[in-house]
Amino acid sequence: MSSKKFARESAVIMTEMVLPNDTNTLNNLMGGKLMHWMDVVAAIAAQKHSNSIVVTASADNISFQEPIALGNVVTLKAQVTRAFNSSMEVFIEVTAEDIPANKKVMTNRAFFTFVAVNQDNKPSRIPDLVPETPEEIENFEGALRRRQLRLVLAKRMKPEDAVELKSIFNLQ
Ligand SMILES: CC(C)(COP(=O)(O)OP(=O)(O)OC[C@H]1O[C@@H](n2cnc3c(N)ncnc32)[C@H](O)[C@@H]1OP(=O)(O)O)[C@@H](O)C(=O)NCCC(=O)NCCS
Repeated sequence: MSSKKFARESAVIMTEMVLPNDTNTLNNLMGGKLMHWMDVVAAIAAQKHSNSIVVTASADNISFQEPIALGNVVTLKAQVTRAFNSSMEVFIEVTAEDIPANKKVMTNRAFFTFVAVNQDNKPSRIPDLVPETPEEIENFEGALRRRQLRLVLAKRMKPEDAVELKSIFNLQ
């Protein structure tokens, strides 16, 4: 396996239609259903980057700004932003479209982290990721401080070791 892959090689687009079984009593998409779709699309992107089995390690805060109505078409785009040792950060963007009304809105954005594992469920090394476009470079650069924030919150990193995070707060 090559030790470097381009960010674009992990890109995935998934399209779903909101059906009655997916909705709450207000006829809007259930948040849990959307999170399931986000997990699936992001896992596929992570698999494409790592050519490996992957597990979800964390999902950063997901906010629901706009309800998504029954009958809307939901498009989920996912792409790996940065690869570390065995883990990788995936950016997911969700849009909802009312095709008859010709209306399309961006409803959610989130970062999920996946870990590549071997057949024994042990984390395994993944290729580095090479960003190319300005957006990919921006996401790549921000990924290190987001990683440090989530590892500090998960008590997997000491706050004093989060050097990138300290730099954005101008702490010594
Ligand atoms: C994720 C998992 C594989 C990590 O295993 P571990 O034995 O703790 O492994 P390590 O401490 O060596 O960490 C491995 C990687 O996971 C990352 N990681 C672990 N917990 C994390 C978290 N909460 N958020 C982000 N990354 C995390 C580490 O930073 C490390 O990344 P790196 O290799 O790129 O440096 C393990 O906790 C696991 O299997 N969790 C359950 C996954 C699952 O079932 N998901 C579906 C939930 S329903």
